[in-house]
Amino acid sequence: MEKLVIKGGTKLKGEVTINGAKNAAVAILPATLLINGECTIENLPNISDVQISCEILSALGAKIEWIGKNSIKIDTRNITTTNAPLDLTSKFRASYYLIGSMLSRKGEIQVGMPGGCNLGARPIDQHIKGFELLGATVDVSQGKITASADKLVGTSIYMDIVSVGATINVMLASVLAEGTTVIDNAAKEPHIVDVANFLNTMGADIRGAGTDMIKINGVKELKGNATYSIVPDQIEAGTFMLAAVASRGDILIKNCITKHLESITAKILEIGGNVEDHGDSIRVWCNERPNKASIKTLPYPGFPTDLQPQMGVVLSTANGNSRIVESIWDSRFQYTEELNKMGANIMAQGKTAFFEGVDHLVGAPVYSSDLRAGAALIIAGIIAEGTTEIYNLQHIDRGYENIEERFRKLGANIERVKE
Ligand code: EPU
Repeated sequence: MEKLVIKGGTKLKGEVTINGAKNAAVAILPATLLINGECTIENLPNISDVQISCEILSALGAKIEWIGKNSIKIDTRNITTTNAPLDLTSKFRASYYLIGSMLSRKGEIQVGMPGGCNLGARPIDQHIKGFELLGATVDVSQGKITASADKLVGTSIYMDIVSVGATINVMLASVLAEGTTVIDNAAKEPHIVDVANFLNTMGADIRGAGTDMIKINGVKELKGNATYSIVPDQIEAGTFMLAAVASRGDILIKNCITKHLESITAKILEIGGNVEDHGDSIRVWCNERPNKASIKTLPYPGFPTDLQPQMGVVLSTANGNSRIVESIWDSRFQYTEELNKMGANIMAQGKTAFFEGVDHLVGAPVYSSDLRAGAALIIAGIIAEGTTEIYNLQHIDRGYENIEERFRKLGANIERVKE
């Protein structure tokens, strides 16, 4: 078993470069199944969710060649099976994108029930509604999902809930459908735009991604033979921005799209931090104890749920009483119990958490319950007095490449230790 050992009390200082977005990568990889050809994907984060995605694609018959640390060449001409390995697909959330892609490409697919972080109930009814409206039959039983369609025909789909996954999945299912599909009440996250840009680069006709109405004109085939570079990860950038504030440090975050970070920038300024926006990089620093805040997580462009735990660390040592309302996931305050072990004073009740800012945190052994909780605990360990040990690193490795080395370069005293 591995753990991270952090000797705290560091003000983070220096530069960090942001990698490609995990949640774009885990959608773009299955999207390559729509192509009857070869393509190159660059700026892929080297994280375990990407490695599992590649293993699944290989099991379906794709040929994958790593041509650099963050680039692959992928040939999806010879897809040999529609049975995705159940053990691998049940391991992570984004395996649901195989349904949209394989319905388009092969007219059928069987996948394990998607796994992923335990954030409470994670229904996929909106994905299924979209597939069925396009003409597919979907069966969910015995821990797996089976979907098939003789043909998919474009239609109007109103999403009852703003869902990142359902928006992308319906987009994947309708790219090769007959006629036009309109997705209304679509999610607007930057990775939705990125998946649409990738598909358009390969020959699709998708318009309006990034707004709440996306129009997809079905095309006959995607030819590939192109190179695509994945958008920088706004959640990774936000994680380092909040680490700068929490540690009263000064970090220049390079290779990011600052437009995607506006909700985080606004909150940092509101609580007394400083931000210098350079367009493709952003400097964040904080010299004093931040002020209290009230935050509600919302779909993009609102404050992202995936930065809520990291912001929770900032507020745990802020001046005064703060409140966070989590409006996306039922169970995303598990990290607050771990922060309380480190001396924080947080009361989480259902989807609201109340923070009474304390002067400082103290090191303790803590357990990461999910990916972003893990990132929050690393920040907490860096700012705490004494030594923190973080367990359950598999969650963190799913979404952050080389996280300890990158924090080390910013001055943190952090080591991965095998027990
Ligand atoms: N929802 C439904 N029915 C559906 C789909 C979603 O009720 O069919 C609900 C969910 O229960 C949730 C809300 O709608 O309350 C939003 O869920 P969404 O579908 O947008 O989430 P997701 O696609 O499963 C992605 C990211 C998550 C991120 C959310 C919200 C991926 C692989 N995962 O999940 O990322 O929190 O969007 O932005 O893209 C993470 O990276 O740590 C992470 C959890």
